[in-house]
Amino acid sequence: MPHTRAPIAELKIGFIGAGRLGRALAWSLDAAGCRVHAVASRGAARAAELAAPIAHCLQYPAQRLADECDLVFITTPDGAIQAIADELQWREGQGVVHCSGATEVSALAKAAADGAMVGGFHPMQTFADPAAAAKSLPGSTITIEAQGELSRTLLGLVECLGCAANQLPPGMRARYHAAAGYASQYINVVLGEAVRIWQSWGATEAQALPALVPMVRGTLASIEAAGLAKGMPGPVSRGDAGTVEKHVAALSELDGDTARLYRELCLRSVSLALAAGGIDPDKAARIEAILRVPQA
Ligand SMILES: NC(=O)c1ccc[n+]([C@@H]2O[C@H](COP(=O)([O-])OP(=O)(O)OC[C@H]3O[C@@H](n4cnc5c(N)ncnc54)[C@H](OP(=O)(O)O)[C@@H]3O)[C@@H](O)[C@H]2O)c1
Repeated sequence: MPHTRAPIAELKIGFIGAGRLGRALAWSLDAAGCRVHAVASRGAARAAELAAPIAHCLQYPAQRLADECDLVFITTPDGAIQAIADELQWREGQGVVHCSGATEVSALAKAAADGAMVGGFHPMQTFADPAAAAKSLPGSTITIEAQGELSRTLLGLVECLGCAANQLPPGMRARYHAAAGYASQYINVVLGEAVRIWQSWGATEAQALPALVPMVRGTLASIEAAGLAKGMPGPVSRGDAGTVEKHVAALSELDGDTARLYRELCLRSVSLALAAGGIDPDKAARIEAILRVPQA
């Protein structure tokens, strides 16, 4: 009988890789009443750190962990996942999952060939400080890619963690992970652009961020309340072509690159404004004409 058919709280869970995500996830599963049985990592210090707050969590070589655990999370950097799956012996009915957003589940082909059930378990959250990340995990979404019994087990874990589940079809991971970047690191890039513009009149990042970040929070609240189109603020949403023209002229005075990115992003906002019903096609065409003509 597959081991993953045991009740979720009885599954022996193991972690190979005790980094930022491994520690946060292991601690969260332990706090949710799951049985984190063992950890294996490259360095003993990190493994000890993962195990320390968990009662009866053993530190093992990876093969012994794979032999004893019903469900193994490979939480090493993406580049090491396939090598670990390839070098270990797996067994019929156990679950083997990785937590990478962009790596296809086929990286675990050796485990599948040995009879294990393989899958992906990608928390859509940022894990910089593991203790802080463990606190911010509830309420996040975890993307599951698995079939049958393993899928049911992973969905059960998602529920235990107080998270929401998103299911991804095979072959979509790189596309899905690229999309996640827009809700993650590209926020840094967009705010970096705003800060660079502030710096053009002598303001510092330390002055700009406290002014800009509350606006980001307000925009997110507006998106959550009204959706992307109706929750979009700004001159394009109001059909204010004159203000868009001033923006383009002002940024073109700075440098061509700054104006080019602004025009590109602003053009993408026109279809949202149309979808929200805030502007009509004539107004949209007028704004698009301003944005498509590079300023001298
Ligand atoms: N961090 C995030 O925000 C985040 C978010 C979602 C998904 N993920 C995914 O989670 C996974 C882990 O990322 P991370 O940020 O936690 O990485 P990380 O902080 O760099 O930790 C990786 C851990 O794996 C260990 N390790 C490396 N090679 C190993 C090997 N061959 N055998 C055993 N252990 C090994 C490292 O050991 P040492 O400490 O001894 O070097 C380290 O503890 C990745 O697949 C990543 O894509 C990360």
